[in-house]
Amino acid sequence: MTLTIAPSGQACGARVTGVDLTKPLDARTVAAIRAAWLDHHVLSFPDQRLSAEDLERFTGYFGGFGDDPFIRPIPGHDHIIAVRRRADETAPLFAENWHSDWSFQERPPAGTCLYGITIPPVGGNTEFSNQHAALDAMPAELRARVEGLQAIHSARNGYAPSGMYGANDQGRSMDIRSDDEALKTQLHPFVRAHPETGRLGLFGCAGYIIGFDGLDDSEGLSLLYELIQWQGREEFRYSHVWEPDMLVMWDNRSVLHRATGGYDGHDRLLHRTTIAAWDGV
Ligand code: SIN
Repeated sequence: MTLTIAPSGQACGARVTGVDLTKPLDARTVAAIRAAWLDHHVLSFPDQRLSAEDLERFTGYFGGFGDDPFIRPIPGHDHIIAVRRRADETAPLFAENWHSDWSFQERPPAGTCLYGITIPPVGGNTEFSNQHAALDAMPAELRARVEGLQAIHSARNGYAPSGMYGANDQGRSMDIRSDDEALKTQLHPFVRAHPETGRLGLFGCAGYIIGFDGLDDSEGLSLLYELIQWQGREEFRYSHVWEPDMLVMWDNRSVLHRATGGYDGHDRLLHRTTIAAWDGV
């Protein structure tokens, strides 16, 4: 089998064919996928009828499993969570704001794998924004203001009992458990070198970032607002259109992502794993 990698033509993303992910992969194939992932940041693998065990095996080729807090795993698979929405669900969409997965952790996951099981016939794209491109194109004045800043990350806006998925979140089909653990904070440099490629990019955004070390709240919030307008600009984006039986893996160190709606009246179900950070990243 020959791996074929077709770039999306957008700011990141490529479609990978010529590999069967239901079978164990040899080291050469894993290395080729890893290289493509680092180049394109988001890879999609269509027509893969994966079991939960296949998804776990694939994730394991790229590092250990990440630590997934606040969302209960599916029965029998401690590292798989279900990203689920019923056709008649009215709770706000899960993950609708730009973010890098679990960036509030000390060692946030290097990547995420998301496998499409029930895919609505319309809507439900996942959007990605390339944060190397966002830094490269950033106006010098804005860049000078953010270089050297340490961002304060926290899960509190989402997963604290008072957060979006907390005590007042009703009627959601995802099994989310809010907790005071979400109040913790963690610093990460906002402009940082990608741990594997060394390429500079922006890490994280408003939402999980709640301020900047050394800036007062109002200065920090207004900077975050200005930044998110920049970070999510159209020219940095790739809009991923799902197909059933498609696996997508993305690099949380290079891209932000967000869910989109537009599929009311249709169920949507995907299974997700995270890929742990490499030592020191
Ligand atoms: C996620 O952020 O993990 C979910 C993305 C999506 O549902 O499209």
